Amino acid sequence: MAALKDYVGGNARKLFLNYASWDAAAAHWYTEPWLGSRRESIHGTYSAGNFDDQSFPNTGLKVTFDTHVLTYYDERAAYSLHKVWKADAMNPEIKTENFQFDEGSVIVKAAIFVSDDPKKQSDWWPGVTQGAAQWPLYIAIPEGQQGAARTVVNGYVMQFDIIVKDSVAAPKTGWVFATLVYDADAPGKDAWDKMVPLGAQWGNDPDVNSALNPPPPLKENWINPVAPFYATQTLGWGGRLSGPNDGARNNIQVGDNVMLNAPDSSCMSCHSPAQWQPVQHKMLSFLLPSYPNPKAGPPFRPCPDGKPDDPYICSPAPGSKDWFRWFQDRLGTEPFDPDTGSIATDFDMVFAFKSLPMWWKAIGPADQPALFAIRPSGAAKRYNEYSGAPLAR
Ligand code: HEC
Repeated sequence: MAALKDYVGGNARKLFLNYASWDAAAAHWYTEPWLGSRRESIHGTYSAGNFDDQSFPNTGLKVTFDTHVLTYYDERAAYSLHKVWKADAMNPEIKTENFQFDEGSVIVKAAIFVSDDPKKQSDWWPGVTQGAAQWPLYIAIPEGQQGAARTVVNGYVMQFDIIVKDSVAAPKTGWVFATLVYDADAPGKDAWDKMVPLGAQWGNDPDVNSALNPPPPLKENWINPVAPFYATQTLGWGGRLSGPNDGARNNIQVGDNVMLNAPDSSCMSCHSPAQWQPVQHKMLSFLLPSYPNPKAGPPFRPCPDGKPDDPYICSPAPGSKDWFRWFQDRLGTEPFDPDTGSIATDFDMVFAFKSLPMWWKAIGPADQPALFAIRPSGAAKRYNEYSGAPLAR
């Protein structure tokens, strides 16, 4: 992890701390096409999730916060963007080999946290955000509220993912997923130095049933034993890696049993359904363990059937056969739903969950269902962009 941090450090430190000198073209760091209409105008970030103190108990969090993200592909990784999108990004060539990232490809993703309360823009997470890099965002607060005017607010850069195609370290999946989180108490001279490893994951531990008591140890996952407390509150199922921005804990319903803030995912679990069905123009399975929704609405079936505003994801039981569909090890050439015509996108979720859907929305027939139906416009409630779960407040 130190080597990965070092490898991206020259560029990342500029991006974090000296935006005036940041030049993505000179760094050969590239962004994806088709997300433009969703990007805010200063750093080009786009909205990702929202969290409140249900996700971060006993950490002193005083507000609900929104998260914004920004992904960059290094030169080798960006070659796969080119193979799929070609020069004009209008006619993607959807073939398994085009989505494959070459050995050594590195993709990074920064997550910026911003208070949702227009009146509480500072000191909203005492101790935790202190000294973190601050980025101005030109967005409406609270985000997604109809008619709220845009303004410049400061967010904190709290998470920085680094994933690398490394088939030696990760023979079963081809990828190592790693993330750094901000630690106000870490040694170092600036906010980049204080980004510490939360952990690394190179597989989903399909042989480890974490529903057992006590849960057996994981073998394809490492968590930093001295990671900052807040960042350990959002780890995934059985302690599999997931970061504070990632939404690996959700309110789920298994039969009649409601489980709040239940760990039901991980970095590689959530990225494993990255696939595209080129005739139906969508991903056939959702990010999180769930049953597909036969009706319009969120991509997973709400529980019980039929209530669009129902707050719980209808989930298979933790540790069951259906649940383990989301905790398998497979290479990025193999689609999550085999024999369905789906093409695997090599774990890349921007392709599968954002850029291909936005491309199809723009060039496909006009009467398609809303793209991000998980946040219906004008709805009183607000939704987590990834899980689709309505927010507590
Ligand atoms: C609950 C789902 C979920 C979890 C957990 C999750 N991600 Fe993602 N990730 C996504 C989605 C969806 C996208 C694409 C859309 C976006 O960026 O808004 C994405 C995008 C990314 C990207 C950009 C390139 C790509 O593959 O699309 C990186 C890098 C990344 N995630 C790393 C991580 C790491 C590292 C972790 C764990 C520390 C993690 N993710 C956990 C859902 C998840």
